[in-house]
Amino acid sequence: MSGESTMPSLQSLEFAEGFIGEPEVILDARAAGEDRGVDTVTPGTGAALRFIAAASGAQTVVEVGTGTGVGTLWLLNGMTEGGLLTSIDSDVELQNAAKAAVAAAGRSGSARLIAGRALEVLPRLTDNGYDLMVVNADPSEYGLFLSQALRLLRPGGIVVFNHGFLSGRIADASQRDDTTLALREMQQALRDNTALTPALLPVGDGLLAAVVN
Ligand SMILES: C[S@@+](CC[C@H](N)C(=O)[O-])C[C@H]1O[C@@H](n2cnc3c(N)ncnc32)[C@H](O)[C@@H]1O
Repeated sequence: MSGESTMPSLQSLEFAEGFIGEPEVILDARAAGEDRGVDTVTPGTGAALRFIAAASGAQTVVEVGTGTGVGTLWLLNGMTEGGLLTSIDSDVELQNAAKAAVAAAGRSGSARLIAGRALEVLPRLTDNGYDLMVVNADPSEYGLFLSQALRLLRPGGIVVFNHGFLSGRIADASQRDDTTLALREMQQALRDNTALTPALLPVGDGLLAAVVN
């Protein structure tokens, strides 16, 4: 291996993205999202979410940003049988498409889809009641979602934020727009929080994950 780069090539990253194929029902949810201009999770991100849900034995999951249900379906496929996924989205039309996708997958009994703004819904959910929280919404609000995660997750619970790279803007010091600055600040707070064990996983647009110690 000496002399070879340890950085993955673009080809390797593309290979990783397609490593796990998507079942028909997820492809349909992805197509519904594309029709509506939704930025659905990538296949590699979906597979990683399923992996995290399965590895942690997640039974109670809260998702912010249902969209058309791509991430929702991946999570349901990793969760323990008998678990419940609560997913929040402020866009009722998108969430209805997700509802149809979850029904098509035969998983309606495992999902509670709530229409509303996440910062109004999350405070109504039970303290220490969740094993996993997945956030895929407006990155400028991620700092507020992190505070909610610290309240909602049980010790050993996991929080995952999509768009850790913000399409390359986080790592590019010349980018100083409000959203990039807010997300950099949130990422610093997450790194500095001794109650968390964090990692930035280079999958899709970056999965920023942390375990609550
Ligand atoms: C990137 S899309 C989610 C994609 C979805 N996870 C998937 O894989 O199909 C972001 C979603 O977050 C929702 N959203 C954005 N800000 C929100 C907020 N403050 N509260 C609730 N939903 C929000 C949008 O309506 C949109 O459907």
